[in-house]
Order: sequence, then structure tokens, then C-alpha cells
Amino acid sequence: MCGIVGYLGQKNTKEILLEGLKELEYRGYDSAGIAVLSDGEFSSFKAVGKLVNLEEKTKDFVTDAFAAGIGHTRWATHGKPTELNAHPHVGASSYVVHNGIIENYAPLKKELQNEGVTFLSQTDTEVIVHQFEKNQKKSTNSFEAFKKTISELEGAYAILLVTKSEDDTIFFAKNGSPMLMGINAENEKYFASSDTPLIGQCSDVNYFEDGDYGYVNADEIVIFDKMGNKKEPHFTKLSTNKLSAQKDGYRFFMEKEIYEQSSVISDTLLGRLSEDAVVFDEIDTSLFDSINEIKLCACGTSYHSALCASYMFERHAKIKTSVEVASELRYREPVLTQDTLFVVISQSGETADTLETLKMAKAAGLKTLVICNVDNSSMVRMADASILTRAGVEKGVASTKAFATQVVVFWMLSLYVAKRNNSMQTQEIAEQISLLREIPKSVIVEDSMHERIKRLSKRYLHGHGFFFIGRDLFYPLALEGALKLKEISYLHAEGYPSGEMKHGPIALADPELFTIALLPKHLLYEKSRSNAEELSARDSTICAISPIEFDKADDFIKTKEHGHYMLEFFEMMVVVQLLSLEISIRLGNDVDMPRNLAKSVTVE
Ligand code: AGP
Repeated sequence: MCGIVGYLGQKNTKEILLEGLKELEYRGYDSAGIAVLSDGEFSSFKAVGKLVNLEEKTKDFVTDAFAAGIGHTRWATHGKPTELNAHPHVGASSYVVHNGIIENYAPLKKELQNEGVTFLSQTDTEVIVHQFEKNQKKSTNSFEAFKKTISELEGAYAILLVTKSEDDTIFFAKNGSPMLMGINAENEKYFASSDTPLIGQCSDVNYFEDGDYGYVNADEIVIFDKMGNKKEPHFTKLSTNKLSAQKDGYRFFMEKEIYEQSSVISDTLLGRLSEDAVVFDEIDTSLFDSINEIKLCACGTSYHSALCASYMFERHAKIKTSVEVASELRYREPVLTQDTLFVVISQSGETADTLETLKMAKAAGLKTLVICNVDNSSMVRMADASILTRAGVEKGVASTKAFATQVVVFWMLSLYVAKRNNSMQTQEIAEQISLLREIPKSVIVEDSMHERIKRLSKRYLHGHGFFFIGRDLFYPLALEGALKLKEISYLHAEGYPSGEMKHGPIALADPELFTIALLPKHLLYEKSRSNAEELSARDSTICAISPIEFDKADDFIKTKEHGHYMLEFFEMMVVVQLLSLEISIRLGNDVDMPRNLAKSVTVE
């Protein structure tokens, strides 16, 4: 997804912008560019593909004086990933970078074209710079023109704009897309669409609110709110703990993140478990007062963890729970009642569809909770309460450790609510807590297991599709396994409830249909096994994942003996993650940045 950086100061502007963009690479992008304004002169560079291409293009460009610079990584929405469509977009004497979507760009563009403006790109963004220059002609100063331009835009945006007539200034605006500004003791100003590019550069940051706009120069920081009232920046300290982008010897970030799951789950549990109770200091039990239903809403992998949560909330806390795909909930005019706790789940906290449902729920007067991995993200700032998953920065586009920690948080939360609702005996809760403490061990990747999966993976590089099948909680795990595989291998994969195969999909069974069967010992083993047998009888190629030998399988991945199905769940989660990883590596794909995908989907 698009990323923005900006810099105003004396240092090496080019390097600062490029380094900042590198920190945003994990979000996914297909082109990038920078524009630097120094002493009234612009220099601009764009390149399709990875940042190394942009570095190559800028290698002879030197920035050693005061400058205003803006940079962007683009994930195509309007127009193909070409150099012309890459940001920054240029007018006669200004450049702009933008995240989000300008919904009314078509009528604005038409009007500008009628007035003789030539457009170079197919993007919605380009209207911003031309509209600004049109307004500049009628305004007494550039800020007035910028302000007027913002008032004419509809949609979501984070915008940085620089213009020749005020070569010491960066204009900014934020509405619906994340942006923050950082400062330091050297009087430099930084902008970015997330914290990471600013860590190590800035001491303090101001997170802009929706509707904020203004400008910065060497002497001033001027911010207005959506009502047009001048406001003071609200600076908070920025963490200095820059998480290493190093892969620590792993081939891909995704691999590193799979291996990290044990330690990040320990972090997720830290300080939240007593002998017989779950403790969440960040929420108050009154959050559940007058609540008769929980509605969970998310996208992608986070949606799968929400499905897991629905099993646990109903089983442990005996509370009615429903799960919604965010992009569907937004437009289907749902009945939202005040006795419902609305819970959004998001690794990034910025996913546009999920964020919008949170706004909907708030507008309907519901209590809201977010389960999120990124502190200070838009969702965390918006929801009434938040629980952080503590997975650390996740760089692989295919989510792994974020999913694991989300499920852990939900397991804990279901026990927290169970205690509050007296739906479980103290002894039962204590037993579950002991199991929670065992998860970090259950997800340790053993060399022998990884080697076995590496070897097996070579048999799964073709075929006409994969079915991941499971029952109960292993059904959302099957969905997640299939999503992982398709994201990074580009092979067709589906997750299905094991018992549902005979109602249609079994018609596809033949040796080229690969079934990945999740067969936990401690949850509906016999039922799941006979569903796998039905597929085996129709000659589907079966890879069974189970602690119990399964003679009807073509391949068998033996998991450890655990005393409880939840521990089997976490070990099998690692197995399906590694299987996708190894298949993708054998196919020669870019595991961390798969085609067409973005880490954080901040457009609809
Ligand atoms: C995960 O592997 C995916 N890349 C994707 O489905 C992701 O989970 C989804 O876009 C939601 O993201 P979020 O958790 O940041 O809201």
C-alpha cells in the first residue's frame, strides 16, 4: 500500500527520503519517487519496481543544502504501475504525493482539462496538483490556494505538496489516511505515513487527526483542524527502539516471523495471566456491562482469527458472537444494537474497510474494542478500548505471527469474559491458563519438522488446486492455511469445513487435487478422519497433518502429542505456514512481497 515520507531541513534530503521509503517497503508497492525543492529548483526522480531502481536513478543526485523533499511508494489503484503514474505528480511548478483515493477526481479532471490543463498520468492524485495551481492563480498566497484545494477534494487522503513560490515550505493535509509529523532538536521536520521511517530521526511526533491541514517551514508549524480552527501540535515521544530490518539469517522475513512466534506469544501473555484469571490492565470489565452479543469484524487473516474467536467466545463465555467481513458489513445496512460489543481486529490498525466499520459502529453508539498490533494506529486511536497483540513489526506481507498473537489474545479474552459472566468454573479457567502458558513451546519450529516439510513441498507445486479441510476451530485454520498458500504461491487453494466437502467440492477430487487434512487428536478426530477418507476414496492426493498415523494419506506430517486441541491448533498453524513458505520458495516467488498484494490495505 502507498507510503509517504517528507523532510524539511539541512541534511542529506535524498538519503533521508530513500531511507524513509525503505522503511515502508514492507507495505507493498510497485513504483516509487521523490521530489526535492532546494533554492527554488526542483529535482524529481521516479522508478517502477523496487527501490533499488530509484536509488540507481538518483545515484548522481547530491543534496547538501536546505531543502523540502517529498517521497512516495505507490501501490496502483487508478492506472497501471508505470513511471508516469508514480508519485510525486507534477504541475507547472509544484509536486504532490498522496495516499488514499480522491473520489471526485473525475469531474475535477474534466473541468481542468476543459480549461486546457494536460494530464500526464491516469491517477486520481494528479488533479490535486493542477487544482492547487489553478487556485494559486486566484489566491494571495500558496497556503490559501492549498486550503481551497483541500476543501474541494472528496475522499481519503494524506497529502504532501511543495511549490516553487514557497521553496522552504511543505504543505500537508490528512483525512482518512494515516500521517504523522516528527521533529527533533536540530529543527528538522519529518513526515511519514507510519512511525517506522521516523524512528531514529525524530524525538517527538504529532499524529494528525482527520481534517487537519497546514504547512511547515524552518520557523513554523501551522496546523488547522477540520473546522478551520488553528490548533497546536500535540507532540508525544517517539520510541527509539528501531526494530531491525535484518532477516537474522533467515531467507525471508516471513520465515523469521514464523520462527519468532514462540517469543512474541510469550510477550503477548506477559503480565496478563494469574493462576486462575486473565488480566487486561488496558480494559475495564465495565466494557462488558449490558453486553449480550459480540460482533467481530475484520479482513483477511484477521477475519480468520475473528472466526476462531467466535468458537471460543461461545464455548467459554457463552456469549452470542457473530463474525463479519468488513467490506461486506459496510454496505449491507446491518442492524447494530446497543447491547453489542463491536470488536475490530487488525494487524495494522489502518485497513480502510475495517476502519470504516469501526466508524459505523461508533456512529451507531456501540461500545467498541480493537485487537491490534500497532499502537497509535488509526483504529487504536478511534476505538473505546484496545488490546495490543505485541507481535512486533510484521514485515512479510503474508501475516503469520500477527495471526498467532490475535488468536492468543482472543483465547485470553474469552476466559476473561467467561470469568466475568461466571460461565466457567475457576478450576476450568485455571486449567485453560496452564494451557495458554504452553503455547510458546508448541510453536517452536523443530529442525526435523521444517526439513520434512521442505522435502514434501516439492510434490505440491502443480495440480489444479488445494483444499485445506478442518472442523470446528480447525476450519478457520484451514481457511488461513489456504490463504497463506494462495498469497505466496499463486496456486489455487480453498479452506473448507471437512464435513462440507461432500456437498459439492468433492466432485473435484482426483489425483491432481491436493487435500491438506487437519486431523487433531482431541477435537472431532473420528469425524474429520472419515471426511478425509471420503476424499482419499475418490483418489484426491492427501497430505494429513495429525499426531495419529493415517494410512489413507499419500503424505503424512506427524505433529506432537499434546494434551489439548488448542495446542494441536498452534502446532498445525506453524505446519501450514511452513508448507506455504516452502512451496513458494520452490516456485521462486518473492515470499515477502508477493505480487498484487500490499501489507496494509488503506484503500477500499
Ligand atoms: C494476510 O496474510 C493478508 N496479507 C491480509 O489478508 C491481511 O490480513 C488483511 O489485509 C487485513 O489486514 P489487517 O490485519 O492489517 O487489518
